[in-house]
Amino acid sequence: MTDLDSFIRALPKAELHLHIEGSLEPELMFALAERNGVAIPYASVEDVRAAYAFGNLQDFLDIYYAGADVLRTSQDFHDLAAAYFDRATADGVVHAELMFDPQTHTDRGIPFAMVVEGLLSAMADAQARHGISSALILSFLRHLSEEAAFATLAAADPWLDRIAAVGLDSSENGHPPEKFARVFAAAAAKGLRLTAHAGEEGPPAYVYQALDLLHVDRIDHGNRALEDDALVDRLVREGMTLTVCPLSNLKLCVVPDLADHPIDRMLDLGLRATINSDDPAYFGGYIADNYRAAAAARGLTRAQLVQLARNSFIGSFLPADAIAAHLERLDAHL
Ligand code: ADE
Ligand code: ZN
Repeated sequence: MTDLDSFIRALPKAELHLHIEGSLEPELMFALAERNGVAIPYASVEDVRAAYAFGNLQDFLDIYYAGADVLRTSQDFHDLAAAYFDRATADGVVHAELMFDPQTHTDRGIPFAMVVEGLLSAMADAQARHGISSALILSFLRHLSEEAAFATLAAADPWLDRIAAVGLDSSENGHPPEKFARVFAAAAAKGLRLTAHAGEEGPPAYVYQALDLLHVDRIDHGNRALEDDALVDRLVREGMTLTVCPLSNLKLCVVPDLADHPIDRMLDLGLRATINSDDPAYFGGYIADNYRAAAAARGLTRAQLVQLARNSFIGSFLPADAIAAHLERLDAHL
C-alpha cells in the first residue's frame, strides 16, 4: 500500500451515495441464491463479473434489479448491509447514508417491513461493532408511477422516525423530476430530507427541476450541470452538495475515461462535490477505491482529498452539532 492509499483509507469520511442493493457482491449473490433456492442465470462468480460490462445506465439497471431477486428475508438484508459496513469501515467511513429501493422488493412480494427491519438491525450492529453511524434514504424508482411512489411513502409510515430522507433513482432519461414533485412535497411535510439523482445521464434541465420542483437538499451525481454555467453558479451559491461517483461514471460511460473526470473541475468551480461508490459491487470498487482512482487519474492533491472528505460531512443529513464534531475530528486527525 502506498502512502497515498493509507492516507485515503485513514481519512475520516462519510458516504452519501450508496445503493445498498448495489453492494451485493457476486459471492453473496450465490450464497443467498443457494440459501433461498433461487435460480440465477450465472454458472459462477466469474460468470457474474463477466456480465458487468455496461454501455449505459439501463444496461446496468437490468442486471442490478435481476441480482436483487436473491434477497428474500430480513436476514438477507441484514447480511447484505453488514458486509457493506465491514468494507466501509475498512475504508475510513465513519458515517454512511444508505439508499434502498423498497419497490424493487415489494413488487416481488417481499414486505417493506422485512427489508427495513433487516437493514435497521445491521445498522445497529455496525454502530456497536464498528462505531459507524448510518441513516436510511428511501429511494423511489422513477420509471414507476407517481401513484406507486405515494404507496411506497405510505408503507414507510411506521418507520418514519428511522428514515432520514427520500431519494429518486433508476432510469433517468424520460422520467424527469417533475413527475415526483407532489410525492416529494408530501415527504417533506412528513419531516424527511430530500435528494434526487439528476444530471447523471439526464440534461441540466433535470437538475433545475430537482432544485425548483423537488426542492432537494442535495443532488446525486449532477455531472451534466457542468454544461450550464448559470446552473453551476447557482449550485455554488446555494452550497448544494453533489454526490459524485467516479467509478460509476466510468462504468456507465458518463465519462469516456477517468482522465476526463470533472471531479477537480467541480472543486475548482467551488462546487461542494463529494466522492462516493454508488453500486460498489457492480462498478469495481468501494469508496476508498473511488478516492484512489480519482486521485490517480486527476492528480488530486491531499488538500483536495481532505476537501472532499470535509464536504461529505457538510453535505450529510446529520444534525449540525454532529457535523461540527466530525469536522473537528477530521482536523484533529490531520
Ligand atoms: N440505482 C442504482 N444505482 C443507480 C444509478 N447510478 N443511477 C440511477 N439509479 C440507480
Ligand atoms: Zn446512484
